[in-house]
Amino acid sequence: VKIYIPQDAAALALGAERVATAMAEEIAARGLDVAIVRNGSRGMHWLEPLVEVETAEGRIAYGPVKASDVAPLLDAGLVSGGAHPLCLGKTEEIPFLKQQTRLTFARCGVTDPLSLDDYRAHGGLRGLEKAVAMQPAAIVAEVTESGLRGRGGAGFPTGIKWKTVLEAAGSRKYIVCNADEGDSGTFADRMIMEGDPFVLIEGMAIAGIATGATKGYVYTRSEYPHAIAAMEQAIEIARAAGVLGVSILGSAHAFDMEVRTGAGAYVCGEETSLLNSLEGKRGLVRAKPPLPAHKGLFDCPTVINNVISLASVPIILDKGAAFYRDFGMGRSRGTIPIQIAGNVKHSGLYEAAFGLTLGEIVDEIGGGTASGRPVKAVQVGGPLGAYFPRALFDTPFDYEAFAARDGLIGHAGIVVFDDTADMLKQARFAMEFCAVESCGKCTPCRIGSTRGVEVADKIAAGIEPEKNRELLADLCNTMKFGSLCALGGFTPYPVVSAMTHFPEDFSPAPAVEA
Ligand code: NAI
Ligand code: SF4
Repeated sequence: VKIYIPQDAAALALGAERVATAMAEEIAARGLDVAIVRNGSRGMHWLEPLVEVETAEGRIAYGPVKASDVAPLLDAGLVSGGAHPLCLGKTEEIPFLKQQTRLTFARCGVTDPLSLDDYRAHGGLRGLEKAVAMQPAAIVAEVTESGLRGRGGAGFPTGIKWKTVLEAAGSRKYIVCNADEGDSGTFADRMIMEGDPFVLIEGMAIAGIATGATKGYVYTRSEYPHAIAAMEQAIEIARAAGVLGVSILGSAHAFDMEVRTGAGAYVCGEETSLLNSLEGKRGLVRAKPPLPAHKGLFDCPTVINNVISLASVPIILDKGAAFYRDFGMGRSRGTIPIQIAGNVKHSGLYEAAFGLTLGEIVDEIGGGTASGRPVKAVQVGGPLGAYFPRALFDTPFDYEAFAARDGLIGHAGIVVFDDTADMLKQARFAMEFCAVESCGKCTPCRIGSTRGVEVADKIAAGIEPEKNRELLADLCNTMKFGSLCALGGFTPYPVVSAMTHFPEDFSPAPAVEA
């Protein structure tokens, strides 16, 4: 019998390690023939730590489990999927999971993250097996035809990026995986690295074969120690098994990779700043052009893709471009792992084809607020994403639909706020965040953000509110069009959306003379 207890950081934060220890002790004390598998997370955070047991009918889930629940659970027949108040029935039948379309996250929470055999048994390496027998241009064409767009946030077509690198001249080329997941409310990259690291390795190896790059780097942040450990172990296992190295799967293709850890500056998630950091320099943004695809790491042609973009490639190669492209709407093809966070009842990761409306995600899938109060706003796309009010809940999850309403999907993190949120404070926070995280290279961002905080404070204090609201809008305009990178350029999104949709929060009571 196998019992699954997640080793995912979110589950650990909620006590999964204590549950695993208690389980191991009880199993030993009772002399049970049970193996504990430390899996990734299924992505249902409100049910973590989620314990699963393998039965003849499939896996049965229990959660959220505390260490003190372990003995009573075993008394109730946990090992054979016995009834207990914490029993959730068959894992796959839990509505939050059942309604998803898990392509990229198909194995996450299902397999042992560090078992290559388990990975293979669940469809792993099929994409790479096909890729080693294909011409690079054919791989690039397959990825282009799938419609896959950069899941880091900008939505640039992955195949076109790869084609640029394939066609760029250079004796050395690199694949860099941007795993510097910094957006508020996002955890998809971390979940993949902890829960299914081989899929990222496979995706990077395919990218290497497709573009002629033989070396890859996963650039992640020091705040992700579990992801770093899982990736490093998985790389070693893959190397020992011939999945990485001088002869990938026995072919003439070579590809190897390693993990590099940044110190956690938000701006190092910006691709050119990331490259500087990876080269051992300060994480200062570089001007584009040249694009990294032409002149990237150590001035060599470089593919920089987000974790989810790369982790989506194996299934595209395995099942074909048409299979993947069949999901989604408009120009947003395939699936997107939506990360639901903030003041929400059912927080977690929900992978679905593009096209769900924001209202469906927040009200139906997320179940509304955890506080039970009305939803006031939802910030989509991280700290630089716009705040959407209920009036915009009919917006479908689609790159173009969000852009048409002055928003962005970004890395697909959504943070829910109830009616106690003060949107002026949120706008101030955006400016403060930008001031703290600015790399300092350009004036609108470096100075504008600090001035933005001051102006927001004046509005809050009731000092010449009309003039200062105008000033804030003007400042946002300057930052949006005058900043060198997305940090300064996108900070206006949360500020302007808050002002536009929640004007009442920007008209506090006038200042009282002392
Ligand atoms: P961008 O639009 O400048 O570039 C997108 C990507 O396409 C880059 O990799 C760029 O090098 C590449 N590219 C553009 N034209 C190309 C061409 N002709 N050939 C080959 N490659 C080409 O956007 P940027 O500044 O890289 O990213 C901004 C986005 O980052 C925002 O939309 C935001 O949502 C997102 N973001 C994500 C965060 C995260 O934690 N994942 C954090 C902060 C922002
Ligand atoms: Fe640096 Fe901000 Fe300018 Fe980006 S916008 S280059 S973070 S100063």
